[in-house]
Amino acid sequence: MLAVDEVSPSPAAIREAALVLARGGLVAFPTETVYGLGARGLHEDEVARIFAAKGRPSLHPLILHVDGSPMAERLARSWPEAAASLAAAFWPGPLTLIVPRAAIVPANVSGGLPTVGLRAPRHGVAQALISAVGEPLAAPSANAHTHVSPTTAAHVVRSLGDRVDVVLDSGPTEHGIESTVVDVTCDPPRVLRPGALGLEPLRTVVPSLRYESAVALEGEARASPGQAKKHYAPRARVVVADASELAHLLQGAARGVLLVFGEEAKKLPSSIVLPSDPAGYARELFAALHRAEAEGADLVGIERPPDSPGWWAVRDRVRRATQE
Ligand code: TXA
Ligand code: MG
Repeated sequence: MLAVDEVSPSPAAIREAALVLARGGLVAFPTETVYGLGARGLHEDEVARIFAAKGRPSLHPLILHVDGSPMAERLARSWPEAAASLAAAFWPGPLTLIVPRAAIVPANVSGGLPTVGLRAPRHGVAQALISAVGEPLAAPSANAHTHVSPTTAAHVVRSLGDRVDVVLDSGPTEHGIESTVVDVTCDPPRVLRPGALGLEPLRTVVPSLRYESAVALEGEARASPGQAKKHYAPRARVVVADASELAHLLQGAARGVLLVFGEEAKKLPSSIVLPSDPAGYARELFAALHRAEAEGADLVGIERPPDSPGWWAVRDRVRRATQE
């Protein structure tokens, strides 16, 4: 584990991590969303190591992390107008664009799909690492498959242990929830995964942007294969319930933990209190799930988040954490 400052990352630490990547190793690095598990994205055998380390099915596509639009355009067979305007508005930032895949991108990056996911992260360490390596970094969230995404370096180590060669540690991530994934290969473009960037700002740039909640997406042949229902599940039974039902839940559990945010619920025993605004809640949700798991919880009861648009990504992740 190497501690690195987000604003002025130590050149020595970045050089060391870049060297590990150039030798074919795996480096976990912070982004503004969650920690990523990186390998050089144009090297098929190195990309394959990511799938092996995570235990991730080979059909689940990875995101390539770039230093900006010029690098991204070289990875795309074509660059749709919506990609250009969304990248101009939101890169660097928590937005992943799905575009047609260029021939230089190995097929295993995309799980064999003709498209590729691209994102320019805003985090200083991610940016420094990409420029030191000089090519895009393939990086999924740095957790074992089906495990909760990491928002700290300690989460990465707990989930992947020595399957990662270096972990760059810049402390807790800013958003705590993954990027928003938008497919711009279709017209109108559509959201495949709600995330840190909200629907409202996206629609100021692409007013026709489609979003159906993942419940609807699961009904059709899934466009985003990583979006399996249990993707974010921690290793305990997770139940979502209204505040009034939460106390009940604890009764049957040997070690129950409640994740609450509402005023009334805050008085319940064994509860982790999360912020009551969606951005604050998103920032702390995964850390709370990691903590409940580390404490050996057999049951996690989550107070049902509000059904308003600002909570879209939180509701998606909470729903995925439940194993109903
Ligand atoms: O914030 C994030 O996006 C983090 C950080 C590390 O950048 N990364 C991340 O990667 O969450 P991962 O692999 O855990 O999730 C990638 C998501 C999945 O839902 C996957 O299905 C979707 O992006 N995706 C990637 N490439 C795709 C493609 N070509 N077509 C459709 N969906 C794609
Ligand atoms: Mg993930």
